[in-house]
Amino acid sequence: MELLNNHAELRTWRQQFSSDHKVGLVPTMGALHKAHATLFLTARPACDQLLASVFINPLQFERTDDLKAYPRTLEEDLEMLENLGVDAVYLPTPEDMYPAGFATSIDPGESGVQFEGAARPGHFAGVLTVVLKLFQRCRPTTAYFGQKDAQQLFLVQRMVRDLDLPLTVQACPTLREDDGLAFSSRNARLSAAGRQQALVLHRALTIAQDAFQAGERDPRHLEAKMRECFTDSPAKLAYADVVDEITFKSANASETPAGHAWRALIGARLEGVHLLDNLPLGNP
Ligand code: PAJ
Repeated sequence: MELLNNHAELRTWRQQFSSDHKVGLVPTMGALHKAHATLFLTARPACDQLLASVFINPLQFERTDDLKAYPRTLEEDLEMLENLGVDAVYLPTPEDMYPAGFATSIDPGESGVQFEGAARPGHFAGVLTVVLKLFQRCRPTTAYFGQKDAQQLFLVQRMVRDLDLPLTVQACPTLREDDGLAFSSRNARLSAAGRQQALVLHRALTIAQDAFQAGERDPRHLEAKMRECFTDSPAKLAYADVVDEITFKSANASETPAGHAWRALIGARLEGVHLLDNLPLGNP
């Protein structure tokens, strides 16, 4: 497995492969866990060359405490990537990614400032800017993203479409622990009690899913059911919304076009840790 420490090393590596090579890219911020592994396991058989990036992108952290507290486990990450059959890992420094004078950023539009974007101002501009730079530098045929970050996935897919980027984005399903908690690098920052309390996100989403399956078609009622779960919880709810997953706009029964499914989203803060999760509801 090759370690590519800067743009020049990445460029030299990438130049070896012609346009008929399938190059897969899995962008990450490190602190890799089982869910990241599933992205690589999906990508590996579909690609000739599999590239990982590990970069804690300062642009997408609106709080410096969150950036500082982000777990860093590079040695273990590299061991895991090697075992997953990754061919090369791009490990840029902030200076390599954002040289002095860097100023341009991607505007994610209206849906970038809602839900996760409202809870974290500037977050998605930072995500899209680094993802676009990673796409430009790595020139993947396919890039793999997790459904766990549904809004991120939506915004990346829309950027690829809007800006005619020559690659495919593949969505990978959310991986959960047996009790339903979605794997996240941030779970490591929770106490044992917090880890149990964090189950409220999945519980609330499941309640919305069950109510939808039982015929509830008022998205505001579904949202109220999710909010109720947080009344006695130490987790502080940032948002609980039902969206049209094709437009990522707040769902509205009378305005949802045929074929557009709904998805329930939750973001919450627990023990100073921002947690997010989502579940599909289905076609209204
Ligand atoms: P990071 O949080 O490291 O996540 C890397 C990828 O793993 C993302 O596509 C994310 O959706 C996916 N992932 C994380 N937890 C998952 C789970 N439980 N199930 C399925 N997929 C999961 O997301 C980022 O990094 C950054 O924003 C990045 C895209 C790298 C840009 O900086």
